[in-house]
Amino acid sequence: WEPYCQYHHLQDRVRITADIPPRLEGTWVSTRCEVRPGPEFLTRSYTFHPSRQFRLLQHYYTNSGCEDPAYSLTIRGKLRLRQASWITRGGTEAEHHLSKVGIVVHSPGAMQRLAARLPPVCVGLAMGRMVPGRMYELYNSRGGRACLAALGFSMMEMGLVRVETQHSNHGGKVQELFLGDVHTDWTQRTHYRPTGYQQPLQNAMHHVHPCPVCALVYRSSEQRPPVLPRILAAPLTLGGRWVSQRCEARPAVLFLTRDFTFNPDQHAWEGIYRHYSDPTCSQPTFTLTASGHYAQGNPSIKVSGATEFVFKVTQVRVTALEESTAKVLNGTRPGNCGQAGGWEVGVEQDLTPTDGCTVLGIKLPHKEYELFKIELNHKKHPLLFIGERPTDGSSPDRPQRRPTSFQAPMVLCSGGETLPSHHHASNSKQVQLAVSGTERLAQVALLLLGCVLCSWLCVY
Ligand SMILES: *[C@@H]1O[C@H](CO)[C@@H](O)[C@H](O)[C@H]1NC(C)=O
Repeated sequence: WEPYCQYHHLQDRVRITADIPPRLEGTWVSTRCEVRPGPEFLTRSYTFHPSRQFRLLQHYYTNSGCEDPAYSLTIRGKLRLRQASWITRGGTEAEHHLSKVGIVVHSPGAMQRLAARLPPVCVGLAMGRMVPGRMYELYNSRGGRACLAALGFSMMEMGLVRVETQHSNHGGKVQELFLGDVHTDWTQRTHYRPTGYQQPLQNAMHHVHPCPVCALVYRSSEQRPPVLPRILAAPLTLGGRWVSQRCEARPAVLFLTRDFTFNPDQHAWEGIYRHYSDPTCSQPTFTLTASGHYAQGNPSIKVSGATEFVFKVTQVRVTALEESTAKVLNGTRPGNCGQAGGWEVGVEQDLTPTDGCTVLGIKLPHKEYELFKIELNHKKHPLLFIGERPTDGSSPDRPQRRPTSFQAPMVLCSGGETLPSHHHASNSKQVQLAVSGTERLAQVALLLLGCVLCSWLCVY
């Protein structure tokens, strides 16, 4: 493995700090067209004042490239930071109060589509008479929330906040604002209290250079939404090894890095999920390696530029990297989770002979319906986006559950690397894995053992 493929290079070269409570003052902007479950396509520019007042701009688009603005929302209110989150280590809980939400529609077509969604009572104005480019009040502190609800509008993302600062050796810094994740189930999004994060916004003054999208979003207003340059469609060539760019957080206490290798000739893949107990991924808990086969399907109708896939897992291996995780797995009944009594820290166990692992929620047989896309970044390096996991920890095991949004992009670290041959040798038995099992283990490990949480809580 090339050293630059390891996640740890980030920690070696770049120091990451996160203040608790976070300092939010300033303007934070999207770095690309964001895709939310639904799907919804948007860009965001959020400004926080020292007085705790905020003014947020959200621009919504009709397409997955954010080239065709539909409407913009301007959201005013106040944010109050509460305590360090007990659920999501490193995050801070916050409460917000909305004072005003305004809407500007950008085209007659967008107006018609909105009119179909909004109840007629909305803001007392007949949507048919709305003028594109003019601001209308959707909500104020005296009014009801009917119009916001009809749009699926929610600022629950403000419930969990984290600011990370990356200090490079050259003295430069990049600041990122992580806000709570949006539930993948549309019906849950207005009351779900986030425990994971969305893709971060970057500070308009301290962002990765160059960032053409940052500049466009920063200069935008509700009257002049940013129109993003068309992204050249990158061919979906999966071959090679892809790794996380950072320590990733998932809802319900899970920090991990992902490391995938695809071999298109054999339709084979291997994914290594390295789990950690802390938000900088420095304290490993366990590693899960899954491998199997995949089939590429049709281009997605919902998310243009993305492609549908079906994944199968034929082998799962787990290595406990701390005593408490090893103990939990060791205590499972014989035949349920690898070799009972054989779990030790640092020793890999194959779960294939036991058809998975009950305590991890790895149920067989099982298939997953996926959504992939590849985009080139500004340096023309490919980024791989894999579908977002359902927030409730379930698995996208039916076509209707296929994701409509994405996890953090992974970078290609080496081309044409093939899987070691032994992964293809054991095709005798089809073991399939709910990849959500990885989440389950993290929860089991944390909830049953408590010790990880306790040692952290005791610090505060
Ligand atoms: C696992 O169980 C075996 C048999 O009960 C025991 O000898 C061993 O010490 C256990 N290992 C751990 C890490 O608890």
